[in-house]
Amino acid sequence: MSEKRVLVFNPGPAALPLPVLQKIQEEMLNFRETGMSILEVSHRSREFEEVLNSAVERIKRLLSLDERFQVIFLQGGASLQFAMVPMNCVEGGKPVAYVDTGYWSTKAIKEAQNIVDKVEVVASSGDKNYTYIPKKISLESEFSYLHITANNTIRGTQWWEFPRTGNIPLIADMSSDIFSRVFDPHPFGVIYAGAQKNAGPAGVTIVIIREDMLERVPRYLPTMLKYSTFAESNSLCNTPPCFAVYVVELVTQWLEETIGGIAKMEEINRKKACLIYDYIDSQDFYINPVQPEDRSWMNVVFTLPSPELESKFVKEATQKGLVGLEGHRSVGGCRASLYNAVSLEAVGMLVDFMKEFARRNG
Ligand SMILES: Cc1ncc(COP(=O)(O)O)c(C=O)c1O
Repeated sequence: MSEKRVLVFNPGPAALPLPVLQKIQEEMLNFRETGMSILEVSHRSREFEEVLNSAVERIKRLLSLDERFQVIFLQGGASLQFAMVPMNCVEGGKPVAYVDTGYWSTKAIKEAQNIVDKVEVVASSGDKNYTYIPKKISLESEFSYLHITANNTIRGTQWWEFPRTGNIPLIADMSSDIFSRVFDPHPFGVIYAGAQKNAGPAGVTIVIIREDMLERVPRYLPTMLKYSTFAESNSLCNTPPCFAVYVVELVTQWLEETIGGIAKMEEINRKKACLIYDYIDSQDFYINPVQPEDRSWMNVVFTLPSPELESKFVKEATQKGLVGLEGHRSVGGCRASLYNAVSLEAVGMLVDFMKEFARRNG
């Protein structure tokens, strides 16, 4: 199986750990002695509930979440969270605050503006084409929350020091860096992540919510748009995306038992990022536009001397079995997504290819 596979640098859906894919294959026709596939098992069965509870417990252990946090599974992608956050988390008519670090945070801001009257963009890196993370954030007023995008999948920037917000809960879109590094969860009121980059397949969104935030949920919201509905029913208010939850459980098991936890994962991710950024910094054929201290370890963006060379690079890389290296359609260029399931060896092979391509075309 593995010999035929390519190296996946896709931005999402993205690489999954090979042992997870093999386990899915192994269990596909007879899930844990049920005689059924996980795709056929009832979401009300003991077997599925064990999977769901295990995923919740593993996420809590991996992120060191204490009993104040609940882990829930939703559908609608991270994009639905752009709406659910302002719908559920406004407190007493206080304005909501956002930091604009490009594409996804801009979308979150636009959605909040559709829902609440007072949306304040308290900092933005739009003045420099979103190539850095704003450091000065003015939080003089009383805000319901401050929303940030922890890792900017398209621009290749990442928050390395989260803003200090005092009593104002932080809310973070961690779609593209959840489980990639250690952080202190305590300042966060809500963390959300579409699973399809670092946590599993498309179809499920992980939401981590602190208890006090549940008290803010307005009574008038539709049942399926209330965080409290999912928190009160252990995500079983209706049929959850069972298969996606099952894969999240396998990915978190891999993180705990094979990798050895998030600190170990972070170490590997650091090595991967150093390998590629050190090479990029040592030459001038590939350029990374991001301010060095704000560079993402998950999404490494770079340009080549011309769009023609970028197309040629992506095409030749694909022929060599290195896939998913084109930049997002909104910005062009190239991008290598180095999520948890992308190994150090795979990054080494990418860097070798980059060197060889530069020699031939530089
Ligand atoms: C940081 C970030 N937020 C949100 C999204 C949108 O996610 P979804 O497609 O799950 O709605 C993406 C998708 O790439 C993303 O990278």
